[in-house]
Amino acid sequence: MSKKPLILGIESSCDETAASIITENDQGNPIVLSNIVSSQVDVHKEFGGVVPELAARSHVEKIDLIVQKAIDESKIDIKEIDAVASTAGPGLIVCLSVGLSFGKTFAASLNKPFIAVNHLEGHALSPKLNSKLNYPYLLLLISGGHSQYLSVKNLGEYKRLGTTIDDAIGEAFDKTAKLLGIEFPGGPQVEVLAKKGDPNKYNLPKPIFNKGGCNLSFAGLKTAILNITKQIKTEQEKFDLAASFQKTVIEILHKKTKIAFTEFENQIKPKEKKFVVAGGVAANKEIRNMLIELCKEENYKPIFPPIELCGDNAAMIAMVGLEKFKLKQFDNLDYPAKPRWPLDQDAVFLKGAGVKL
Ligand SMILES: Nc1ncnc2c1ncn2[C@@H]1O[C@H](COP(=O)(O)OP(=O)(O)OP(=O)(O)O)[C@@H](O)[C@H]1O
Ligand SMILES: [Mg+2]
Repeated sequence: MSKKPLILGIESSCDETAASIITENDQGNPIVLSNIVSSQVDVHKEFGGVVPELAARSHVEKIDLIVQKAIDESKIDIKEIDAVASTAGPGLIVCLSVGLSFGKTFAASLNKPFIAVNHLEGHALSPKLNSKLNYPYLLLLISGGHSQYLSVKNLGEYKRLGTTIDDAIGEAFDKTAKLLGIEFPGGPQVEVLAKKGDPNKYNLPKPIFNKGGCNLSFAGLKTAILNITKQIKTEQEKFDLAASFQKTVIEILHKKTKIAFTEFENQIKPKEKKFVVAGGVAANKEIRNMLIELCKEENYKPIFPPIELCGDNAAMIAMVGLEKFKLKQFDNLDYPAKPRWPLDQDAVFLKGAGVKL
């Protein structure tokens, strides 16, 4: 029996320092041997958001310990590692540089290949860590920095069908949380508050709901929340606003996902209709439930990563590393950190004032 590849994944694109060792079984299914994530919430809490220099410093302080922990927990011998995969972008350049340099140095010292990974590709492949998933598929990537529909034809082959023209959904959750007075990082707490509120209390705007294909927009929604928070006085009104916000996001995603289904089918003509939802916001149960129902109606197979692999982690980075390793897609040690690195490199930049839809 030939030796199965052992991949070390490293992630440091924002405020999580993470390392993971994965391998695969005889059927070619990945096995996560260790997955260590160290969050910097306490470092950034008092500032209400991620401070890049503090984040980078924290990565520098912790990266060797986290990688050591991932190796120890996996119970492998360091010499058995076949390749090192590090996130090279997109993200904060001072943060990316830490994990990238560490990964390159580690690979060079072991005399093993180095693989530069697109963080978004990590999210895109994260459901492969717990379910069999073949290409092609439709991907909804909903995270702190991105909100996109993409058809995924193969490893590294992405066609963007729609994107946000302003804020990402995760960002909208985070900003809403801040306006509601929830401590950083508040996005996930909006879901908790929403459970206690009336989703029909506030009528909020749905920007570009009836135009722009499956492109998305959330900036107007945020402004509406800002205006309402100036008037609300009671805790119950806060819960109602959280519930109304979440309901509005769900309605937007319901409509835009239907459009994305049609565009995907016209473009790919898939034999099997698969819909993957990934990124931090994929952890939201109400959003999940709506998308699962929609998939039932439209004959799609819904696929989500496990909740703990929705946010940033290194197992998803190692997953991309594993696929690239098997195709011998290695990178040189002078591979740069890329703050901006879209999955579909041919897609037009669609952000800011004057965007034509
Ligand atoms: N239950 C939830 N409901 C809504 N949003 C959530 C939930 N859990 C996490 N999020 C949001 O997910 C985001 C974090 O996801 P992720 O770690 O994938 O983003 P990121 O790495 O910062 O951005 P990107 O991957 O685009 O670079 C945050 O904006 C957070 O508020
Ligand atoms: Mg992320």
